[in-house]
Amino acid sequence: MRLFAALSLSDDLRDRLAALQDGLPEGKQVEWENFHLTLCFFGEVDGAAAEDLHAGLSAVDAPSFDLTLDGAGAFGGDRPRALYIAARPDPGLLHVQEKVEQAGRTAGVSIEAKKFTPHVTLMRFRPGRASAPAAAKWLSHRSAFLAQPETISSFQLYRSSLGRSGPIYEELARYALAAPIT
Ligand code: 2AM
Repeated sequence: MRLFAALSLSDDLRDRLAALQDGLPEGKQVEWENFHLTLCFFGEVDGAAAEDLHAGLSAVDAPSFDLTLDGAGAFGGDRPRALYIAARPDPGLLHVQEKVEQAGRTAGVSIEAKKFTPHVTLMRFRPGRASAPAAAKWLSHRSAFLAQPETISSFQLYRSSLGRSGPIYEELARYALAAPIT
């Protein structure tokens, strides 16, 4: 199973993100129902490790927090691969992300060692399809994006299946976060 842990977003926030997606026909837009903020990508995980991972994620002890989407960015530099709306790297978010990644490592899942860049992908490109100037222009019109903070009180484990028309994400489990620190 191809697994990842992510935050889901409110319908209102999804609507706001969907309204930002037009303007670059060479990109493949992420579907409204697929918007999410990945906490950790686990990749292919076998059944036994998935059980351990589920147990570890169930034991994550972290408080609810406010998520603020703020700004826009691209992955891929001169050859853009994806355009996204960024999330503020607030301590509550970083704390949950670290705990989730740790649960993956404890379950024996091999996790890429790369810096966590919290984001919600809006659009992806096949290699070579996007022009960097067009992407930069698109981003410049979205860099001032700022959403109302949204309280996050759970995170999810998803299975990703690569369908012909794009990935299909299935929620396998939902893990509650503790009451927020006030
Ligand atoms: P992305 O939004 O930046 O594309 C499910 O595939 C999720 O896991 C996607 O949100 C994707 O991030 C993220 N992810 C991180 N590393 C990945 C990888 N090596 N392969 C596929 N998805 C990855």
